[in-house]
Amino acid sequence: MKLEIKGLSVGYDTGAVLHDLTLGVAEGEFLSLLGPSGCGKTTLMKAIAGILPAAGTIRLDGRDITNLPIHRRGTVIVFQDMRLFPHCSVAENVAFPLKMQGISRAQRLKRAEELLEKVQMAGYGGRRPAELSGGQQQRVALARALAAQPKLLLLDEPFSALDENLREDMRTLVLQLSREFSMTVILVTHDREEALSMSDRVALMFDGRIVQTGTPEAVYHRPACRRVADYFGNCVYLPGQVRDGLFTGSGIACPAAVPDGDYDMMLRPDSLIVDGAGSYGLTVEAVTFRGGDTLVTFRAEDGTLWKKSCTGAAVWKTGDHVRARVRTDHAVALPAQA
Ligand SMILES: Nc1ncnc2c1ncn2[C@@H]1O[C@H](COP(=O)(O)OP(=O)(O)O)[C@@H](O)[C@H]1O
Ligand SMILES: [Mg+2]
Repeated sequence: MKLEIKGLSVGYDTGAVLHDLTLGVAEGEFLSLLGPSGCGKTTLMKAIAGILPAAGTIRLDGRDITNLPIHRRGTVIVFQDMRLFPHCSVAENVAFPLKMQGISRAQRLKRAEELLEKVQMAGYGGRRPAELSGGQQQRVALARALAAQPKLLLLDEPFSALDENLREDMRTLVLQLSREFSMTVILVTHDREEALSMSDRVALMFDGRIVQTGTPEAVYHRPACRRVADYFGNCVYLPGQVRDGLFTGSGIACPAAVPDGDYDMMLRPDSLIVDGAGSYGLTVEAVTFRGGDTLVTFRAEDGTLWKKSCTGAAVWKTGDHVRARVRTDHAVALPAQA
């Protein structure tokens, strides 16, 4: 279902948290909402679900749901802490939304069994939530969410309490189910890789505002501002000037479609090609073995540090002078900071 949020403002007694927020999610889209802790991600999910009152408009498939009660919105939230009913069996937990819809006990337990199978939890229906591992409880919470047949599934950091390998399994499962059930999904996460690897689009949130929305490639390679660039980390900023569409400075020159002025050219280490041939001179400052790769820190002549992950045998040692090229196809000119 298509979601359109316009001019949304939400707060608590302590003050405003979301400020005039606008966000659109297309039908069937998988969107990740990414941002640091405390920026307002959970607040936004609760406002969409109707748990928190909001000023502005929230439309789901054209219908204004801003003032509808929770159960009439067609949205379901899965929280990080799952909130399963401890005194009910796993099957009763999953069947709960169907009970609310007045479906007979026999029918809803049958459906619960089918959904438990979908989340690879067949045979666990008779247990209590406390008799399951964290990962299993998260699967049950997911099955319960699916039972409600949401038009829009809101997942609030559903994997963050799980071990890394379980997390990977859950990501795969969620992606597969979201396609199978043709759901529109918003996944809240503060995990950059999770957001980039799972989503059709990523929305970046800071201080209660969406600062950029785009494909994973766009938000990573074409950050709208320094904050977004830094959020994905490992940036190098090369100071220089743009004149007539050409950036020069810090030993590089490349086209930049921005007005004349002082800029920092943002680059990531994959743009540094250390092939021994280019015009960019570097000194190897440190070589750190990390298991799967080696982190090599290079110092450019102007003092810029490049930290580059290298695989295979380390060919450089500290103090080596090497020549390199800087690829500028992913370079982004960001206004120099005052
Ligand atoms: N019930 C509440 N009462 C007052 N302030 C709250 C409440 N819940 C969250 N906040 C505040 O709102 C801001 C956003 O919180 P939240 O939406 O939970 O962020 P996130 O999910 O991105 O970590 C934080 O500053 C937090 O302290
Ligand atoms: Mg949160």
